[in-house]
Amino acid sequence: MTARRLEDVSDRNLALELVRVTEAAAIAASRWIGRGKKNEADGAAVEAMRKAFDTVAIDGTVVIGEGEMDEAPMLYIGEKVGQGGPAMDIAVDPLEGTSITAKGGPNAIATVALAEHGNFLHAPDIYMDKIAVGGGLPDDVVALDAPVAENLKNLARAKAVDIAELMVCMLDRDRHAEAIAKIREAGARIMLIGDGDVAGVIAASQPGAGIDMYLGSGGAPEGVLAAAALRCIGGQMQGRLLFEDQAQIDRARTMGITDPSRIYTITEMAKGDVMFAATGVTGGPMLRGVHRSGHSAVTHSIVMRSKSGTVRYVEAHHNFTKKMWAPE
Ligand code: FBP
Repeated sequence: MTARRLEDVSDRNLALELVRVTEAAAIAASRWIGRGKKNEADGAAVEAMRKAFDTVAIDGTVVIGEGEMDEAPMLYIGEKVGQGGPAMDIAVDPLEGTSITAKGGPNAIATVALAEHGNFLHAPDIYMDKIAVGGGLPDDVVALDAPVAENLKNLARAKAVDIAELMVCMLDRDRHAEAIAKIREAGARIMLIGDGDVAGVIAASQPGAGIDMYLGSGGAPEGVLAAAALRCIGGQMQGRLLFEDQAQIDRARTMGITDPSRIYTITEMAKGDVMFAATGVTGGPMLRGVHRSGHSAVTHSIVMRSKSGTVRYVEAHHNFTKKMWAPE
């Protein structure tokens, strides 16, 4: 076997290892579904994910994580994870949708992305304006700084449908009122989601999800995770960091961000070969949620690699009586 092939095999194995990491986080968080305690749900996911990383054969550095070292006990930015191996950068959101989980709503996921060192945008924990569409469309069919009506017109033309048939997914937030009004005025439909814009962005790339475009502002770290997913599944995305004050701009500068108004392309957010994995915590169009029953649980995950473009769905049946990391 050539060295190249060996590298491919270890890449492929690594992608499956990632699923174990998101499964562990999802199972741990699932204990908190509907209990009204988002911090506990998040804490359980973080702890389980951190522990699961110990068995992954990488020399990993968290670049998108739970916060700075002094504000997060685990999976903080800069933390080293993994049992040793190739140097990789890691973006994590152990529980994407903490409020969703607390309320027992749809679409909460545990998620991780991996890239070679230096290949993820080091996005600070601020908002990012995002626009995303699926694969197979002309380059730059939509643009973050173009008027909403123009984006919808171009997208409808590229898809050979009426604007009235387009469905835009957005977070249901007051700050989106103007954009929502413009989309409706242009004649398109909107699916407003309560939380979870990583799944929202991915939905724009999934033919069966019925979403044609994702638009609006959400977390910048979630933007990088979504960009990594889209690099694998196919699709276009642009993002612009939304700074609230000079202190945020100064801090971002220390993270290597010199132009605060820059619009990032998808590859500027996640470049090179990337891998992405997510496990459903609560059910949604993309993934089923964790189904717990006594000493067992069933999880549903997605794992993908940009190198091969393969998207795998993994249904796992867990027997806690045999697991080293069995949750309480
Ligand atoms: P959490 O899991 O951290 O609660 O994030 C949920 C989420 O909806 C993200 O998907 C999204 O990017 C962000 O919050 C939006 O932030 P806000 O709720 O402040 O609008």
